[in-house]
Amino acid sequence: MQEIRLFSGENIPLERHKVRIVQKLELQPVEERLLKLQEASNNLYLLKNRDVYLDMLTDSGVNAMSDKQLAAMMDADDAYAGSETFFQLEEKINDLFGMEHFLPAHQGRGCEKVIADLLVQDGDLLPMNYHFTTTRAHIVRCGGEVLELLCAGGEDPNSDQLFKGNMDTAALRETLQNRKRNIPFVRMEAGANLIGGQPFSLANLQETAEICREEGIPLILDASLVQDNLYFIKKREESCHNLSIREIMRAIADCCDIIYFSARKFGFAKGGGIAVRKDSPFLGPLQELIVLNEGFLTYGGMSVREMAAITVGLEESMDESVISQGPEFIEYMVGELTHLGVPVVTPAGGLGCHLNAKEFVAHLPAQQYPAAALASALYIAGSIRGMERGTLSEDRNPDGSEKLASMELLRLAVPRRVFTLSQIKYCIDRVHWLWQNRELIGGLRFTREPKILRFFTGELEATSDWQENLAVRFRQDFGDSL
Ligand SMILES: Cc1ncc(COP(=O)(O)O)c(C=O)c1O
Repeated sequence: MQEIRLFSGENIPLERHKVRIVQKLELQPVEERLLKLQEASNNLYLLKNRDVYLDMLTDSGVNAMSDKQLAAMMDADDAYAGSETFFQLEEKINDLFGMEHFLPAHQGRGCEKVIADLLVQDGDLLPMNYHFTTTRAHIVRCGGEVLELLCAGGEDPNSDQLFKGNMDTAALRETLQNRKRNIPFVRMEAGANLIGGQPFSLANLQETAEICREEGIPLILDASLVQDNLYFIKKREESCHNLSIREIMRAIADCCDIIYFSARKFGFAKGGGIAVRKDSPFLGPLQELIVLNEGFLTYGGMSVREMAAITVGLEESMDESVISQGPEFIEYMVGELTHLGVPVVTPAGGLGCHLNAKEFVAHLPAQQYPAAALASALYIAGSIRGMERGTLSEDRNPDGSEKLASMELLRLAVPRRVFTLSQIKYCIDRVHWLWQNRELIGGLRFTREPKILRFFTGELEATSDWQENLAVRFRQDFGDSL
């Protein structure tokens, strides 16, 4: 992908692929959308996919595969133990990361579970640039506490900082040097998910690694969103302009003791795994936990077909014209919405376009879950399924009080190579309409609230009849149109 200037002067992100397999989508009338939303208890995870027109919930496991990935899947070597397909994947990991061992897992959180089981003990402190929901859940389950050391401006929805996912290295040094509690590892997340898919710079990662090395503490990278981070380093970090994506990937890996990732994101497939060097003290213990929790060491819960697809997908992720597609569509959305006055996170990150619900529905208190309310409103407005990333994604404090999130975001994920520009334009239009009618959007409250990761399966209701009123306004404004 590369931005192309049209004769009219308009710049558009132009796809560098063509669509050869399609899936039919339905777009239901607004009244039907309202009904489906209420049947799903205002939790967009509980919607049936057939009731969604644009599924922008996540980029996880829903990226389009290439012809070469599909071809490789047909040729996979199926075996419980010793599959050739596994060794090809391990070789690819070694080629990209310079790490000889790959421990396969069924997906990213499988990796997080075994890493936490091995390394995190009661009372431990875990410094990181920013947490991810499942990462923190596993750390807390093992008795650890997450300490976020994000750089200044990282949580500011509209700062000028080009690398909002950077670690505050001064704070990290201070934390490690003056530690009173055990710190089993430091974690860096590439393309920090919950703050809007925001990257770290290579220089920041290298400094982080240096501090960890001085203090003898391992550095673990969550590389699930590294393909976006690679693109941003290449584009935004002056000292890296002349490096290839592959060289940047190796420079990142050289900083880390362990790398794990969800292949639902990195690799355009499904699955995941952990990479370590052959002399790592963690290799043997991690292998034992993989066998116990995920599966034998040459499949780890994945089908061989998925492993074949990951091997090809990882190589494709080293191609700038492939990994630029997501960030360039997102930048287009962010640019257009900013122009229309809609509050979005800037600069654009990877993963998706993030609406700033704190400003969008500034009249809603955090206790009524503004980002989740906005998500439900956008489903009514356009059959578009986004994901709440705010207070609803936080579980309650042990005393039962709400843990208020610092950011209230509605993430509109852009799965890689999936949507066309007209679909993106449709989404921009419905968000714009909602912005013009934002005073109609009301809050949500739980009717059933799980204790752990409540956002996945919790059930909610609207605090008034605001959703019916929104549907009526839609009908007034759009007439017979869907
Ligand atoms: C940064 C990060 N880490 C870990 C995970 C968990 O991966 P999975 O969904 O494959 O379990 C995700 C998934 O969204 C993620 O974005």
